[in-house]
Amino acid sequence: MNTQIDLMYMKEKMPDPIIHNPFEDVYSPSDDSFLILDFIRSKISQEFFDEIPIREIENILDLGTGTGIVAIFLELLNMFPSKIYASDILQNAIKCAQINEKRNNIDNKINYIHSNLFESFPNHLKDSFEIIIFNPPYLPSIKRIERKRIDYLWDGGIDGLKVLSKFFSQVERYLNHQKKCHIYYICSSNTNLDELYKFIDENGFKNEVLLNRHIFFEDIFLNRATLK
Ligand SMILES: C[S@@+](CC[C@H](N)C(=O)[O-])C[C@H]1O[C@@H](n2cnc3c(N)ncnc32)[C@H](O)[C@@H]1O
Repeated sequence: MNTQIDLMYMKEKMPDPIIHNPFEDVYSPSDDSFLILDFIRSKISQEFFDEIPIREIENILDLGTGTGIVAIFLELLNMFPSKIYASDILQNAIKCAQINEKRNNIDNKINYIHSNLFESFPNHLKDSFEIIIFNPPYLPSIKRIERKRIDYLWDGGIDGLKVLSKFFSQVERYLNHQKKCHIYYICSSNTNLDELYKFIDENGFKNEVLLNRHIFFEDIFLNRATLK
């Protein structure tokens, strides 16, 4: 089977969640969100997810959940025995994800955390996650503008690294050090990639680019970072 047919077949077996977004300040699913879903589809089997035994995955975090698309997709697959957490800095994103969870007939299974990165995470979630997925604001700001709420969706600061670098300086303490852990995140050809990969390396992670997709004026990349 060729890759295109493969992907269509997997999409039929594992469809996108139904997503509704009534909030102006919540990010509607886009190419980057669907790149993550396609990757998950291509790497999941009854026993493994991207070479991690599924039964060993206790906790998954969808950080910056937006409409909840990734967390809801993971729940709908019904293949992970894991607890699924979804967090966002915007209260409306949490509300939106909760509405979408119901629309997809999932009954209060996702655990929501309203938080700026890990700032408001409860202590008991330290050393917990085997999988963390983050589709962050990764685009560089065009110019210094006063930060409005809506900027959180895409504005990664002057070089696109503001949120990602904070994330990589905090994330290690939330990974389950007893197990194999994977962080998946999105960045773009407009992000300062040299700086980003250097920073990730200096913070003790190995980085691999897994997928890329060309959209309009940029390439977006799905990366996997693992502890060295
Ligand atoms: C590009 S959107 C991705 C949304 C969703 N995960 C998706 O793939 O469609 C980025 C998300 O990160 C959230 N976000 C931005 N800065 C954040 C921060 N410091 N802490 C937590 N979430 C943040 C935004 O509110 C937004 O929902």
